[in-house]
Order: sequence, then C-alpha cells, then structure tokens
Amino acid sequence: MKIDVKKGDIKNEICDVLVVNLFEDEKTLSGQTKVINQALNNKIVDYVIEREGFSGEFGSFYTLPVMNNEINAKKVLIVGLGKKEELNLNKLRELNAKILRECKKNKTDKNIVSVLHGLDIGELCTKCCAKIMAEGLTIADYKFDKYLCDEDKNKTSEIENFIICENDENKIEKIRQGLQIGETISKASNFAKDLINEAAYIITPEKLAQVAKNIKGVDVKIYDKKDIENMNMGAFLAVARGSVNEPKFIHLTYKPQNVLPDKKIAIVGKGITFDSGGMDLKPPSSMLNMKDDMSGAACVLGLFSVLSELKINKEVHGIIAACENMISGCAYKPGDILTAKNGKTIEVDNTDAEGRLTLADALCFADELQVDEVIDVATLTGACMVALGTCASGIMGTNQEFIDRLIEVSKSSDEKLWQLPLFEEYDKSLKSDIADMKNTGSRYGGASTAGVFLSKFIKNNNWIHIDIAGTAFLEKPDKFGVKMANGAMVRTLLYYLKDCKCK
Ligand code: BES
Ligand code: MG
Ligand code: ZN
Repeated sequence: MKIDVKKGDIKNEICDVLVVNLFEDEKTLSGQTKVINQALNNKIVDYVIEREGFSGEFGSFYTLPVMNNEINAKKVLIVGLGKKEELNLNKLRELNAKILRECKKNKTDKNIVSVLHGLDIGELCTKCCAKIMAEGLTIADYKFDKYLCDEDKNKTSEIENFIICENDENKIEKIRQGLQIGETISKASNFAKDLINEAAYIITPEKLAQVAKNIKGVDVKIYDKKDIENMNMGAFLAVARGSVNEPKFIHLTYKPQNVLPDKKIAIVGKGITFDSGGMDLKPPSSMLNMKDDMSGAACVLGLFSVLSELKINKEVHGIIAACENMISGCAYKPGDILTAKNGKTIEVDNTDAEGRLTLADALCFADELQVDEVIDVATLTGACMVALGTCASGIMGTNQEFIDRLIEVSKSSDEKLWQLPLFEEYDKSLKSDIADMKNTGSRYGGASTAGVFLSKFIKNNNWIHIDIAGTAFLEKPDKFGVKMANGAMVRTLLYYLKDCKCK
C-alpha cells in the first residue's frame, strides 16, 4: 500500500472510496465534508444524518454510493469521529486502523482518497495527525499470510493507494514528513512482528544473528559459543546447553552520523527462540506460543532496522543473548549451580525461569558498556500477564524519574506501561543455601521477583525492565484488530529515542 499526500480539490478526485468524516451529533458540516455534501446535493445531511440517523459515533461508518456522477469517486465513506472534545492522537491512530479494515472489506476497492482526520482540531498538529494516520493504516495493513493458500490470502482487498488530498499548500510538506515518520515506525513494528510470527525452527539463534547482520547502517558483532564461553557467561550458556542450535550473542551498535550523540542507551531484548521450559517442561497449553519468547529480541532488531532512517541522535546499543530452552541429555538441570559474567552464583531452582538467566549475562555485558541508560524488554513472566492482562506491560526499575519519563512517552504511543514494585522483601524468597541466589522465588509476586533477580546483574542505576509476557503475542484481536505478534514496545521505544512529542 502506498500512502501519500497530494494537493487537490477533493471533489474532483477519481477513486474507489473517498473518505470524509463527521463529529458526533454535528449539526453543521465543515471543511471537506461540507464540500462533498454540497457536491452531493446535501445528501450527507438530508439522507445519511437525517433519514438514516448516522450520528458520527466514534469508529462508526456509513458508506454512501455515488449515484449520478456528482463527484468522481465511486462511493463516499463517512467516518464517525466521536465527540470533538474527546478526539486525540491515540483515538486517531485507532480510527485510521479501523478505516483501513473497512476499506479492505470490499475486494474491488484499491484506490482510496481521504481527508486528513483530526486536522485543525484543538491542539493536534498537522505533522502528528499525518504520522498517526500512517501508523494506524499500516498497523491494519499488516498480515502474516505466507503459509496460506491464495484463496485465503485474498479474502480482503489489497489497497494499492491511500492518498490524502489537501488543498492548503502550506500543509502538504508537514503532512509528507509526518507520513514518512509514521510509516517508518510501523515498518519497524512489522519487522519485529514478522520475526515473532515465524516458526521457531526457522527463527533460530543463528537466524537472529543473520537478521542483525543484514541491518544497514549499524555495526554488528556476533559472538559464537566459544566467544560466549570466553566472556564467562555461565548462566546464558547453561540455558543454551540443551539445544542442537548453538547460542549467539548479538551486539548491535548505532552511532548518529556527523553529530555527537546526546546520550548512550543500551536496549537488551530477551532472545529465547523457543521456550519448552527445559527439564521443568511446560504443559502443552503453556508451550503453544513459546516461539514468541524472542519478542524482546525482535523489538531490538525492529528498532535497529530504522534508527538511521529516523536519524536518531543517540548512541544505541542493542544486546541479545539468543538461544533455545530445550530438553535433552545435555540440558541444564534443577540443582545446577551457575556462575554469571559478574561472578555471582545461581542455583537453578526451575529451568523454566531461563529468561532471567540469559538476561543476567546480557545485563552484565550492557553494564560494562558504561552507557547512560539501560532498558531491557522481555517476555519474562506469566505472573506479569496474570497481574496486568494483555493490555499493559509491566515496568520496573531503580530510578523513578526515568520510569516516569518512559511511562509518559507510552501515553502517546498508546502501549500501556504499569509500574510494578522492586521491594526488598522479594529478595528473601531468592535466598539459596549454596549459591548467591536461586533463579526463582515465591509463586506470588513473580513479576517483581524476576525484576529483583535481574537487578543483581546491573550496577547502572538508570535501568528499566519491561515485562511484555502479556502484550507481545495476542490470542484475541486488540483495538487495532491486531492478532498474534504485535511488536510490543517498538513504537514506545522509537518515540522515546526520537523524542516524539506533539505540541
Ligand atoms: N517465557 C516464559 C514467560 C511467559 C509466559 C511468556 C507466558 C509469555 C507468555 C518464561 O520463561 C517462564 O517460563 N517463566 C516462568 C517463571 C517461573 C518458572 C518462575 C513462568 O512465568 O511461569
Ligand atoms: Mg521459561
Ligand atoms: Zn521464557
């Protein structure tokens, strides 16, 4: 789908669907909707609103066929914007996703022309309205259909062009810039989603390393098993031991061109390409979606795929300890005692708490880079999913100001973050009689216990841990209609890195 903007008079546009909008209970039409209403001899008011009772409720649609060639479009899609005072950028993102799904319903509709929703409303700036539109449209256009037969692939229409028509010359360039940023952000999400949705026998640690290597404009160093041994990553190596697929430790570095970075940030992603649970084997229903246990790693790779395109002015390090958690004669066992990179010893209480072991060594590595901030993203605990459900990720850390800043960003990216505590009390349950700690604690408060465990491997006080166990892979469609992988945290972290703010 090509998304673009053109200068023009909307009533002259030739297209399959012309998209205009209507606020809830709006009595007098304005803007482009008014123009189209006039061209259609007042049909939007007389027929759609008065006779058909279309109220403009948020996310509702009315399709009006063009009968007498009054305009060049084949039909007009009137979109309900809801109450004027309630419209904001998050609602617009959701609305634009809904619009694309509506347009895709009819298989012969390929060319869409639309007004830019939200333009000139309240404090919404032109560039952000365009950015949000591109995000919403591309979220809804994503599909993972490579294994479907043609008949099933083509159940909805492939939209070819989605063109914003704007008659104000001064706005065109801002719209173009917004669209470009929005599309790039979605491209990063889609990059992550493709990796997560793909089967685990294809997305092996080696494959993740290859994907990293193929990203343009960044330095990538891959550490093989031998190198990992030399780095003394005893916790990571133990998890990797049960699989025929060898572990890879991936370090990506992005540096802005021609400017000094204003900050150095490391982003660590959990990269378990399949989590069987190991010797503490998961029951079938819990194992089913465990190809998604590399969603943190996919998020990191998604981010890196667009950092240079977005001209991020920070130095960013991406760190992934990639391996499989499998069961075999070589697999690590409950009772094993491991030594992590920083010398701390860990008694294995449960082989299914593998993510924190791989992250322990990855966080030690990040710490040694002496960056200003460290963020880890991980499908870490079922407990986080139990606590927050599928609509929010858990956020924990050692610096409240930093946490608050990221939560603030997540409000505009609309990927909810909810803080969970790292109380000292959780520490007690990790006590071991023969090592510095065990890898699991009490059954209760599992997300926080995991967070406290991770905190033992990082000295940098500017550290945040984000648990995406509940949000990374959706069994039921969310408000954007997205199922399966949803690229959790890609948008939020790109907003954070790019300082995306609408004034
Ligand atoms: N990968 C899982 C966590 C998970 C659960 C991710 C559900 C996505 C959806 C993690 O490795 C795990 O198995 N955690 C255990 C920890 C327990 C043994 C302390 C869990 O949550 O059950
Ligand atoms: Mg596990
Ligand atoms: Zn796991």
